[in-house]
Amino acid sequence: MKGIFITIEGPDGSGKTSVIHSLLPKLEESLAQAIVATREPGGSKIAEKIRELILNPEHTEMDVRTEALLYAAARRQHLVEKIIPALNEEKIVVCDRFVDSSLAYQGVARGIGIEQIAAINQFATEGLSPDITLYLDVEAHIGLERINKNKDIRQFDRLDQEDLTFHQSVRSAYLDLVEKNPTRMVLVNANQELEKVISDCYVIVLEYFRQL
Ligand code: TMP
Repeated sequence: MKGIFITIEGPDGSGKTSVIHSLLPKLEESLAQAIVATREPGGSKIAEKIRELILNPEHTEMDVRTEALLYAAARRQHLVEKIIPALNEEKIVVCDRFVDSSLAYQGVARGIGIEQIAAINQFATEGLSPDITLYLDVEAHIGLERINKNKDIRQFDRLDQEDLTFHQSVRSAYLDLVEKNPTRMVLVNANQELEKVISDCYVIVLEYFRQL
């Protein structure tokens, strides 16, 4: 497998989607290479169906372990169908969220425990890890403000019903992950203006390729 696997992580309202939208064309131009852009949960037909199931605001009775298993199941299918084949073809894959999301949201914020979530994800991924992860760090209250501001243009999902404490716990879990994975994860200050966040991400990824 010779491709490069890049993931973008962050709490809700960190601006991931907007950043990826502007960042990828710039990177494709500078690297003179097409990028496979994908997302989790989702990214393939079956995994998108699992996404609908997980994020449906009506599914309030969903058990936290069921939720964790569904994220891992969607991930497995997406990996096998899309990510691994692209990496085998030596492509650059940029994925909006991956295992770190499950560690932060299910492992810590939902209180299942990092080790248990790491274990089911080890099973789902057979240990495949990103080469580099950009973590878009945003303060919980700023993230929530952005979610509320974008309510009309962004689909409101089940996790958007969570309160400030949940969002704070997601953020602190991510900060711990960055501390524990200093070579793979790079923190980007996403409290800044969108243009600055995009340019910071751009510089980090280009530097990563320069050092390969
Ligand atoms: P998105 O808004 O970035 O598309 O993600 C959908 C929601 O799913 C978001 O609130 C984060 C959550 N999520 C998890 O809780 N665990 C996971 O493993 C993934 C991939 C996403």
